[in-house]
Amino acid sequence: MSLEAQTAVAGDEPALAYTPEVARATAPIYDRLRGVLPEIEWPIHAPYVDAINRLKRQRDAIILAHNYQTPEIFHGVADLTGDSLALAQQARDTDASVIVLCGVHFMAETAKLLNPEKTVLIPDLEAGCSLASSITGADVRLLRQRYPGVPVVSYVNTSAEVKAESDVCCTSANAVEVVESLGVPRVIFLPDEFLGRYVARHTGVELILWHGHCEVHERFTAEDVRAFRQSHPGVQVLAHPECPPEVLAEADFVGSTSGMIAHVGKSGAKRVVMITECSMSDNVAVAHPDVQFIRPCNLCPHMKRITLPKILRSLERMVYPIEIEPQVAARARRAVERMMEIGRGARG
Ligand code: 13P
Ligand code: SF4
Repeated sequence: MSLEAQTAVAGDEPALAYTPEVARATAPIYDRLRGVLPEIEWPIHAPYVDAINRLKRQRDAIILAHNYQTPEIFHGVADLTGDSLALAQQARDTDASVIVLCGVHFMAETAKLLNPEKTVLIPDLEAGCSLASSITGADVRLLRQRYPGVPVVSYVNTSAEVKAESDVCCTSANAVEVVESLGVPRVIFLPDEFLGRYVARHTGVELILWHGHCEVHERFTAEDVRAFRQSHPGVQVLAHPECPPEVLAEADFVGSTSGMIAHVGKSGAKRVVMITECSMSDNVAVAHPDVQFIRPCNLCPHMKRITLPKILRSLERMVYPIEIEPQVAARARRAVERMMEIGRGARG
């Protein structure tokens, strides 16, 4: 297959050309990515990186990218990056008139909740999340009937409809603090069972759990961790709290995606395995070329729906705008803002 054919946009649009001007304009970006992106791939990405970076300025747009985005997005076009909490904080604080959210749908919805007047775009509407789709607003209303008076804490990995039925939201970075902030003995915590079990171990609060799971993290096993330790002696094991409890029990550090990134810098570890989505290690390796990352390759199919060609199309056509029914939005916003008042948790 010719390079032109390979670089054709998924779909029907013609590929953008890798001209000498594009090569010059994007060379400093590629220099940073050299360690994680083969040189042969750059002519495919560079024309999109260049076009997106020019168009976002014309549109007064800002690109927010989650830590699981691929390196050409994360380091090539994103203005701000982070975990779910950081993305929400950055969305709240931006002056740009357009936000392009390179992540999954619930993240774009959260950005819209915090910026009702702004245009928030997601490059692919199908970028969902197994946790968000595990529960509906009607499910939460039933839980409230079953446990009258017990407050509901919802992980941000939920739809606006579910957030609207909740007292407060949390992310993996602040879940323990949010639960403790309520000052009650019992809380309904949803939808991530494993994050809930992690929170329960770190608080004296009894949690009523839902059985939602992340389809990426639930696949890791304690046996995987032991195998990494055996094949890579001295490796530091960092795990996301969406992993099963037996995996977390084997880890040296448990934290949100940004918490794991910060830990790499602070710990001075020379060999690291991140028990989480695959692209994280590539993104972190750019800033830590001296650290050896062992990469367990579990991809999030939803995060991977976001591509450079789709980001360009998003800016060209202003698609796909996030819309939330105003009454739902007003109630969901309260739950997110209440979380933001509590701030970033000590565990990061
Ligand atoms: P973080 O908030 O830790 O980035 O997690 C979001 C997520 O979807 C992890 O799977
Ligand atoms: Fe959802 Fe898991 Fe993908 Fe995160 S990694 S967006 S929790 S499916």
